[in-house]
Amino acid sequence: MSKEKVKIGIAGLGRIGKVHLENLIYRLPDAEVLVVMDINPELKELSTSLGVSKFYPNFQDLVDETRLDAIVICSPTDTHLEYIERAAIAGKHVFCEKPLSISVTEIDKIKSIIEKYRVKLQVGFNRRFDRNFVKLKSLVESGRIGDPHILKITSRDPAPPSLEYIISSGGMFMDMTIHDFDMARFITGSEVKEVFANGAVLVNPKIGEIGDIDTAIVTLTFQNGALATIDNSRQAVYGYDQRIEIFGSKGMSLVGNTYPDTHTIYDRTGGHTPPPLNFFMQRYTEAYLDEIKQFVHAIRYDKEVPVDAYDALRATQIARAARESLQKQKPIRLEY
Ligand SMILES: NC(=O)c1ccc[n+]([C@@H]2O[C@H](COP(=O)([O-])OP(=O)(O)OC[C@H]3O[C@@H](n4cnc5c(N)ncnc54)[C@H](O)[C@@H]3O)[C@@H](O)[C@H]2O)c1
Repeated sequence: MSKEKVKIGIAGLGRIGKVHLENLIYRLPDAEVLVVMDINPELKELSTSLGVSKFYPNFQDLVDETRLDAIVICSPTDTHLEYIERAAIAGKHVFCEKPLSISVTEIDKIKSIIEKYRVKLQVGFNRRFDRNFVKLKSLVESGRIGDPHILKITSRDPAPPSLEYIISSGGMFMDMTIHDFDMARFITGSEVKEVFANGAVLVNPKIGEIGDIDTAIVTLTFQNGALATIDNSRQAVYGYDQRIEIFGSKGMSLVGNTYPDTHTIYDRTGGHTPPPLNFFMQRYTEAYLDEIKQFVHAIRYDKEVPVDAYDALRATQIARAARESLQKQKPIRLEY
């Protein structure tokens, strides 16, 4: 395997599917995308324009492609379990977008499937691959900030997704905060033992009407005693706001936003900089490349994937506890 290109098929060519497809085609010489699948036949044209001539509207046709080593699943969350199972039965390795599922039982099932068919499964927690956050984690691991005491995560989107997306995504804790729950475990290296969530509808009342929130503060308590706060909004008018601070017994380290350039313009009203890079496609461009590169590498050299179904399970458990905490207005303890 090590000399051959890794042959890949992609299911779902929406916002994130396109990011992975372009990285695999233009930036990863070790990989080759042979086929794209999406239920929307109009996307054939896009797929062809990016250089992939085979396009199927049906997942089984993708699975039946015997030359494929792996399938990258970027279709909506409620398709993940079924697609992972069918890919694994056909012996294909899987990269699947987050969340793996909004159901803990389904993730347990996915774990058994992966073990049974001995295929690799990497989960799309892309922020773990952002080089700034990787640095933060290494500072914790090396002991540079001492024992971690407080983690602060700010994670705000520039604009809410469509209501249709929210309905099928499992809601804010499941489609958005899930990244922050994963980062909390990743940076501290500790499991979460208690979750206390508060939420509100302050951006769009229609989000409230479909049973979700658009603004949240979540407090986490870790098994190692550290504490964390996560604050989320579906709408930051100044752009994608992604910051993390870790404070410990020997010091503190923080990662701020990234910008299209570093200029400041001064006038009578003060100094002005450009807004942060607008959204996930811009802010995490290199992180998306690194995560898929590591997936391809894991297949090519038969290594372990860096983020797996266990990580997905833990993040989903925390997201569900946050939802329960919001509903019951009390802290929820996680049992492992
Ligand atoms: N890691 C990240 O940063 C990140 C960012 C965005 C989305 N996601 C995740 O990726 C998944 C897709 O999100 P998106 O924002 O790209 O959604 P999207 O709505 O932009 O795209 C979804 C695509 O899947 C297609 N599709 C719908 N049903 C399908 C089916 N049954 N089989 C195959 N294709 C189907 C649609 O036609 C569409 O092209 C979700 O699970 C989401 O949580 C992850």
